[in-house]
Amino acid sequence: MEKGLQVAIDGPASSGKSTVAKIIAKRFGYVYCDTGAMYRSVTWAALENGINVNDTKQVIDLARRIKITFEPGQPDQRVFVDGHEVTKEIRTEKIAANVSAVAAIPEVRAQMVEQQRQIAQTGGIVMDGRDIGTTVLPNAQVKVFLVASAHERARRRYEENLQKGLATQSLDELEAAIKLRDQKDSTRKVSPLTQAKDAILIDTTSLTIDQVVDEISALIKKNQDN
Ligand code: CDP
Ligand code: CDP
Repeated sequence: MEKGLQVAIDGPASSGKSTVAKIIAKRFGYVYCDTGAMYRSVTWAALENGINVNDTKQVIDLARRIKITFEPGQPDQRVFVDGHEVTKEIRTEKIAANVSAVAAIPEVRAQMVEQQRQIAQTGGIVMDGRDIGTTVLPNAQVKVFLVASAHERARRRYEENLQKGLATQSLDELEAAIKLRDQKDSTRKVSPLTQAKDAILIDTTSLTIDQVVDEISALIKKNQDN
């Protein structure tokens, strides 16, 4: 039987991580874990409870109290906070604007990383985020770092918002918001967004989803044969 590998997919916002991660997981029968959804869920819970995301102590207490769970769903995996479905609410621009502050808190990260490692124990896993190859699964057999120009990523997010019926900012506003979030995620002290030394860089700016999926699938097959 083929081994179930650990596949780590990192990169900035809208580089295509979750889209390709979901397809890869399905293709290889692996579990998919969207770690960004976990930080978004803590952010949602903070805002819902009237907690300022810069009030570190309160956010840490909250992250320890809440239970984030996933269930299979179409087209997106369903996400729950203490049994309440937040799948759609965590994708709003309000959450996107606040999530980097929450994700910069070391204690919140420690809490999330522990849960992510537990999920990864199941065997074949595709996990996407910012620090999977560097921190969460440093021994992952396949590590990729997806990038694309900020302009192209804003265009993708704009189209996605329209398709999902989410309220959207203009293209220029989205590009500015994405650049700001990248900057915050890349410069934080703990586990900043950075390419692991042994990760393969894929620039998806002018690649189709299928091309990216094929490139990562080839890496997985090569590792399965080893
Ligand atoms: O989908 P998108 O790329 O917009 O973001 P996401 O993957 O849902 O992640 C939302 C935010 O969570 C990021 O901007 C990071 O601040 C944080 N995050 C993180 O710090 N570490 C991860 N492993 C995943 C997400
Ligand atoms: O997870 P992440 O924020 O990195 O990006 P995503 O949510 O997977 O991708 C954002 C949007 O870009 C989705 O609507 C994808 O269909 C689209 N996309 C694309 O058009 N071309 C690619 N090569 C990858 C993603």
